[in-house]
Amino acid sequence: MTTQHNTTNPAHKPKILVARAIFPEALAKLEESFEVRSNQSDKIFTPEELQKALSDVEGALVAGSERIDAIALSEAKNLKIVANISVGYNNFDVPAITAAGVMATNTPDVLTDTTADFGFALLMATARRITESEHWVRAGKWDQWSIVNNPLGMDLHHSTVGIIGMGRIGQGIAKRALGFGMKVVYHNRSRLSPEDEKACGASYVSKEELLRTADHVVLVLPYTPQNHHTIGASEIALMKPTATLINIARGGIVDDLALANALQGGKIFAAGLDVFEGEPQVHPELLKCSNIVLAPHIASATEKTRRAMVDLAIENLQAALAGKKPPSLINAEVFQD
Ligand code: DGY
Repeated sequence: MTTQHNTTNPAHKPKILVARAIFPEALAKLEESFEVRSNQSDKIFTPEELQKALSDVEGALVAGSERIDAIALSEAKNLKIVANISVGYNNFDVPAITAAGVMATNTPDVLTDTTADFGFALLMATARRITESEHWVRAGKWDQWSIVNNPLGMDLHHSTVGIIGMGRIGQGIAKRALGFGMKVVYHNRSRLSPEDEKACGASYVSKEELLRTADHVVLVLPYTPQNHHTIGASEIALMKPTATLINIARGGIVDDLALANALQGGKIFAAGLDVFEGEPQVHPELLKCSNIVLAPHIASATEKTRRAMVDLAIENLQAALAGKKPPSLINAEVFQD
């Protein structure tokens, strides 16, 4: 597989695609070096529009809304890089991108702490029923206050949190949990080193043990076909009826209908969801549940972090089009010095 470099003619401005709206300063920076076709209207491309938009560009900045597969790439004869503005890249068919000789990149690290903060915020909001309480206040029910009739929540302090998916973000959540005096158990495809386990105060357990023992289950694993419905009806059945389930990973990791049934049937206490099967649609049965906190996939959404993600994606794209190795290259086999 070869990568053609475009470094010889300084007047040549490679054509690139910016598939979603980005910050104006970032766009202006790109326009200095590239002929930019940008979708600042932010209307998500249909697969046909995406295929056409990729057909004559050398690089593309995309996000989770753009599925990059063999069909999307079928006309993309000049394409050298697809730079995702996201750490998760389940929107990429990596073997198909690699077969097309195209570099694929993502945006790790810059969002770790912001996303871990949000995971913890969603956990707290869910356990302490904060959005439900707000609805209570807005509905004028405060005068019904009583010792036993407030929205009563579950404690975080000195409870057990079970984290499934112990990468950078999972470890960030574990470290935050330690500050609350929580016991941390985790399950992951591979066990952490003893040093990393110690830094997180975390003990490795099987998925089943985690589900049986955790007061709060937090999902932070990447989506792969093997991880589809990691949490379904039979896994929820193992959880404590007082437990909460938090999903900041990806839609499809949880069987949303099974979760809605469990929430409606009181099988678990509550759920906090930032990601959904088929998002931006939300399963109608989930919308009927009051014991749920819903967010529109905002775990990385602070201005500072979103700017850092866009900047890293641009750095990846610039490096690739200058014939250099992008800092967060996923398919290293495509790059040739
Ligand atoms: C990520 O970067 O993967 C976040 O989920 C935002 O898409």
